[in-house]
Order: sequence, then structure tokens, then C-alpha cells
Amino acid sequence: MDFTSSLKASIEIPTIKELQKRNIPAHVAIIMDGNGRWAKKRKLPRIAGHRAGVKVLINIVEVCVELGLKFLTVYSFSIENWQRPQEEVKGLMRLFRRAIGEQLDALSKNGVKLKLLGSEESVPPEVFKSFKDAEYKTKDNKNLTLNIAFNYGSRQEIVNAVKRICDNVKKNKLKVEELDENILSSFLYTGKIPDPDLLIRTGGELRASNFLLWQIAYTEFCFTKTLWPDFSKEQFLRAIYNYQQRNRRFGKL
Ligand code: FPP
Repeated sequence: MDFTSSLKASIEIPTIKELQKRNIPAHVAIIMDGNGRWAKKRKLPRIAGHRAGVKVLINIVEVCVELGLKFLTVYSFSIENWQRPQEEVKGLMRLFRRAIGEQLDALSKNGVKLKLLGSEESVPPEVFKSFKDAEYKTKDNKNLTLNIAFNYGSRQEIVNAVKRICDNVKKNKLKVEELDENILSSFLYTGKIPDPDLLIRTGGELRASNFLLWQIAYTEFCFTKTLWPDFSKEQFLRAIYNYQQRNRRFGKL
């Protein structure tokens, strides 16, 4: 069900102050889908949809800071996305680099710490460097950690973690009997970051698309048909409000 329409129009969205009186999720993850369709509807090149998507992301980061959320993780480029037409991939790489450069000061002013989740493999060095520089420049910021899943694939993340664990076992740094969920989690890109409380996917598809598969074991889901460039602060607040009505049982009664 689309959470944006599941709430009656007559129900007003609580203000940020009202939402803060209830349980604010510590960590929200977003699959920002629908940029291409948004552009196609307007007879624009797909990259125009991605550009519009960056603006929406900036708004959502702002509202997360206002709410006092601690972690926001966004799916910006999957390892499968390399298979898109070269023109789109190149455009996206340019866009990431430019967006990071242009937004760095504003992010810092808002106390946002940037963290890259993903592999360096195949990434143009100048793009990887811009993310790493941004990570370094924002490392002491304390308000919100913005995790950017870039060149990210969840199955690959798990395979890499298992390989590194095996390596540690071989070198006697870890015993097989000691291995548990917490240790495995610590070898993922997300490390000590708590699992997402809420996953929002825009664009109408109802799937996980190789995103945070381990980490979303007990995450609440919100799906909306709204295309990412049309997603608003108000819809984000609706998702939070919707999350606050849920009864999370973590498999217990
Ligand atoms: C999916 O929509 C979206 C992407 C593959 C790219 C998302 C990237 C951004 C919004 C830019 C983020 C910027 C930074 C700096 C992190 P789609 O192209 O699959 O849309 P479609 O399903 O309508 O074709």
C-alpha cells in the first residue's frame, strides 16, 4: 500500500515538534527510484531526472537534521548500474562529483558527516577521490551521518565480509566459535552503524534491489508510487508519522 495515500487527506501531518515527541527512527534508508521516468514524462534526458533527484536529496537531508535523525542511507548507484548506457553512467559520475563539490559547505554547516558505502573497484579515480575528500572534511560533524551507497551491492558486501572473516581466522585473529551476528555486521560497510529502522522506496517498485539485505532483517518498509524527483519533505514526514504508528515486535509478542 502506498503510504502517501494510505493516510486520509483530512489527517494533518504533525509538525516536526509533534513528531519529535514520539519515537524518531535513528536510521532511515532510501531507495531513490524514479528519476528516469520523471525525466521521460517531461521529454527530458534521463540525467535531468537525476539532477532533480539531487535537489530532493538535499531537502530530505535538511529535514532529517531538523528532526534529529542520526543516520540516513541513500542508494545512489548500484554495481548493476554500470550496465546502463555509457552516456547515462558518465553523466551520473559527473553529477556525483559536481554535487559533492557544490554541497559540501552546506552539508558541513548542517553538521552532516558523509560516509561512502561501496567498493572502489571500477570507479573513476577522480569521483572516488571527491567522495573520500568529502568524508575527510566532514568526519568530525555530529548531527547526521549521510551514508551514500555508491558502487554498492549487498550480496557483494556480504561475500567481501565473509572473505575478510576467513582471512582473520586463517591469521588466528578470530576464532570460528566466536563468530556471531555482531561480528559479521562489523565486517560490512555499515560497520557499527545501527540497522535501518525504516526503509523508504519511491517509484512504485516493491523490491529490495540488492540493498542492505543483511541490515534490513527487522526494518519497517514504506513504499510510494511518487517518483523520487517529486518526493517532498512533507511526504518524508508522512513516512515518519506512518512509521510511528507501527508496532515493532522483532519476532516477539
Ligand atoms: C534510480 O532511478 C536512481 C539512480 C540510479 C540514481 C540516484 C542518484 C541521485 C538521486 C543522485 C544522488 C547524488 C549524490 C551526490 C549522492 P532510475 O534511473 O532507476 O529511475 P527509473 O526507474 O525511473 O528509470
